[in-house]
Amino acid sequence: MGKEIEAAAQLLRQGALVAFPTETVYGLGADARNGDALRRLYAVKGRPLSHPVIVHIHCLDELSQWAVPADDAAYRLAEAFWPGPMTLVLPRAEGVSDLVTGGQASIGVRMPGHKVALDLLAEFGTGVAAPSANRFGRISPTTAADVLAELGSDVSMVLDGGPCQVGIESTIIDLSSASPQILRPGMILPEDIERVLGHGTHLHTLQCVAGAVPAIRAPGGLPSHYAPEAELRLVASDSLASTIDCLRSQGKRLAVVAFGAGHPLVDGRSWLAASRDPVVYARDIYGQLRYADRTRPDVILVESPPSGGLWEPIRDRLTRAAGPR
Ligand code: TXA
Ligand code: MG
Repeated sequence: MGKEIEAAAQLLRQGALVAFPTETVYGLGADARNGDALRRLYAVKGRPLSHPVIVHIHCLDELSQWAVPADDAAYRLAEAFWPGPMTLVLPRAEGVSDLVTGGQASIGVRMPGHKVALDLLAEFGTGVAAPSANRFGRISPTTAADVLAELGSDVSMVLDGGPCQVGIESTIIDLSSASPQILRPGMILPEDIERVLGHGTHLHTLQCVAGAVPAIRAPGGLPSHYAPEAELRLVASDSLASTIDCLRSQGKRLAVVAFGAGHPLVDGRSWLAASRDPVVYARDIYGQLRYADRTRPDVILVESPPSGGLWEPIRDRLTRAAGPR
C-alpha cells in the first residue's frame, strides 16, 4: 500500500481527485486548500457549491488549521471518538475557503478511523476535503468497486481498503452554535455524546420534515437522499408478505431486504437477508441496496428495522431513501 499512498498524495498535490476508504463510507478526496480541485470535486459529485464538505485530518494538532473551537467540548469529543465515525462542526479558522464551508461561518472536521485514510492524510500532510464518493443524492459507496462503478474515470485513483466496517456516514455534531446539536445521526449515539459532554447537556437532534427545506445546508438533511435507483419502500414486518403478494399480482419485479427467510413469489437472488445485529446491518445495507439495484427491480422492499439505539441512524437513512424524489 505504501507506494499507492505516495502516488495518491502526489495526485492530491497536483489537484486531482482521489477516492479513499474510511471506516464509514468511501470518500472522494481533494486538497482542501486548492480551489480548482474543490470546484472539480463539486462538479464530479453534481453537488451545489453551497453545500459544505468535511475536511479530514490525521492528528489533533491539525484541528486549529481549520477550526477554532469555542471551548473544550470539541477536544473532549475528539479525545473520546477520534479516530472514528464522528464529524464536528465548529467555527471555521481564518483562511478556510468558502468552497469548503459552503460560505458558512462553520466547518465540518473529522479524523477517520481507517489505516489507509490516516496514512494518506499523514502522507499528504494537511486537510483533505471529502464528501462520500457518490453522485449527489445517491447511496454512499462502501467498496472500491462501488466507487469505480459510480464515478468511473472522473476519479484519478481509488485506494482500495476493503469494505467499510461501519457502513453508514459519520454522526455530525454541531458545536458552532449556542447548544450542541446532532445534524446527522450515526453509529455514535446521542447518549454516547451526552456521556462525554456531561449529563444535563441539552442535545438537539435536527428533525427534518419530509418536503421541508432544512435551515442548515446539510445534504443529508434533505428528505430524499441516500437513494437507490429503484423506488424503495419501507414496510412493517406484519404487512411484508401481503405487500409482496399485492405487488407481484401487479406484475412488479421486486428485490427484498428482510429479516425472514424468503417468500414463494420472490426468487432467492432477489431476497437479501438482513442481520438482526444493527452493527452488521449498517455495515451491509448500502451494499445490499446497490446489489438490489443491479437486479433491476421495479421496487426494493425493505422490512422496517426495529427502533431505538443503533437502529435509529439506520432508520434515518432508510426513511430518506424511501422519501419523495
Ligand atoms: O462518514 C462521513 O462523514 C463520510 C466520510 C467520507 O468521511 N463523509 C460524508 O460526507 O458523508 P458528505 O459530504 O457526503 O456529507 C457530509 C455532511 C453533509 O451533509 C454536509 O452538508 C455536512 O456534512 N456538513 C459539512 N460541513 C458542514 C458545516 N459547516 N455545517 C453543517 N453541515 C456541514
Ligand atoms: Mg454524502
